[in-house]
Amino acid sequence: MIFESHAHYDDEAFDEDREELLTSLKEHGIGNVINVGASLAGCKKTLELMEKYPFLYGAMGVHPGETAELDEDGLAWLHQQCSRDKVVAVGEIGLDYHWKEPEIPVQKRWFVRQLELARKVGLPVIIHSREAAKDTLDIMQALHAEELGGVVHCYSYTKEMAREYLNMDFYFGIGGVITFKNSRKLKEAVEYIPLERILLETDSPYLAPEPNRGRRNSSLNLPHVAQEVARLKGVPYEEVVEVTRKNAEALFHI
Ligand code: NI
Repeated sequence: MIFESHAHYDDEAFDEDREELLTSLKEHGIGNVINVGASLAGCKKTLELMEKYPFLYGAMGVHPGETAELDEDGLAWLHQQCSRDKVVAVGEIGLDYHWKEPEIPVQKRWFVRQLELARKVGLPVIIHSREAAKDTLDIMQALHAEELGGVVHCYSYTKEMAREYLNMDFYFGIGGVITFKNSRKLKEAVEYIPLERILLETDSPYLAPEPNRGRRNSSLNLPHVAQEVARLKGVPYEEVVEVTRKNAEALFHI
């Protein structure tokens, strides 16, 4: 069974067929799913999904692009949810300089606060970092993220940057982008990263892999990602599925 380490099934893109889709995952070889909160509302919906579906686990956090909504009450609420059964990580949290919305100091402030939250509750982190490689690494090193553990989701940086995260014993979330023809740098990074440090993910409903690029993504597309990882690593498809499942189970204590 493939372990889906990053999806947003709370998203309205799934309002029409969420139940049908989620209940069909098992027969398509998809096992456990981490539904990742990106806003406070998304976290609330994630909690509901966790209760409904035994195979679905949750991460509680606010995406950098949504941090304008955070305040002390919001952070305290997140803290409370982290002690629930089946909440397995704090995330997704980080920095996004592609949009720079809200402004960078606001993003940094809540990234730091949510890393501190992860330390208080003893959970690993799910990191979102886009066009912010240096600042993300600086903050993570300053806050000793290597003691928290976690995954850099939708890894999009170079092989050299991968070495820094390997030094912190982090995992790398690899998704649909790896199947894109223009993702040469990422393919190089995946060749370099040991399979024992890779998690499979979709970021559904976003970033569907080839041959479904541009359409709504779902965990049903994970075999395309696993196939490309297997090709790049020169190992059998089944080995990619098994090793990445074990990696995710170890990281999230499932
Ligand atoms: Ni995401």
